[in-house]
Amino acid sequence: MVKDVILIAAVTVDGFIARHSHEKIRWSKDLKLFKEQTMGFPVIMGSNTYNTLAKELDGRKTIKIHRQDDPGATLEQINTERCFIIGGGKTFASFSPYLTHLYITPHPLVFGVGVPLFDGKINELNLSLDRYIIVNHKEGIIQYQYKVL
Ligand SMILES: NC(=O)c1ccc[n+]([C@@H]2O[C@H](COP(=O)([O-])OP(=O)(O)OC[C@H]3O[C@@H](n4cnc5c(N)ncnc54)[C@H](OP(=O)(O)O)[C@@H]3O)[C@@H](O)[C@H]2O)c1
Repeated sequence: MVKDVILIAAVTVDGFIARHSHEKIRWSKDLKLFKEQTMGFPVIMGSNTYNTLAKELDGRKTIKIHRQDDPGATLEQINTERCFIIGGGKTFASFSPYLTHLYITPHPLVFGVGVPLFDGKINELNLSLDRYIIVNHKEGIIQYQYKVL
């Protein structure tokens, strides 16, 4: 089974990942970093997120999740060292018990309403900061890499 299960997301300051479930994300400033970090590893996403993609993500095995799928069984079939859970909010919530890391990039935006990072009931997670990467110095955009304790 895969060792590292990494949630990766761009979030607003008020904790949203999209304005609504069908939004194509154009405001994220860390797409280059996202590509570098996920390249070569399986990426798991929900069907809403899959439908927002203009095309398949090259060089990465795409696993599309539906409501009847069991997150634990999905992860058991992955034999790479790491995989990425790339959204959206419902998928982040359903995989939350299995997460080992969270890579979060806050953006200078407030939506007020939208799709929360975790869309569903989850258990509390305690995190410790592993490292951070400056994505855009001028705009103060930083990716925080947390380990789940
Ligand atoms: N900012 C970011 O980093 C980022 C990253 C990824 C995605 N997003 C955005 O997130 C949004 C999509 O997020 P989302 O949470 O709506 O969808 P999602 O997690 O992408 O997909 C929905 C998932 O939940 C399942 N589901 C639907 N209704 C359910 C129910 N009643 N009970 C249990 N499971 C259910 C779906 O299964 P079925 O297929 O069976 O319906 C599907 O697996 C899009 O706007 C996307 O662009 C943002």
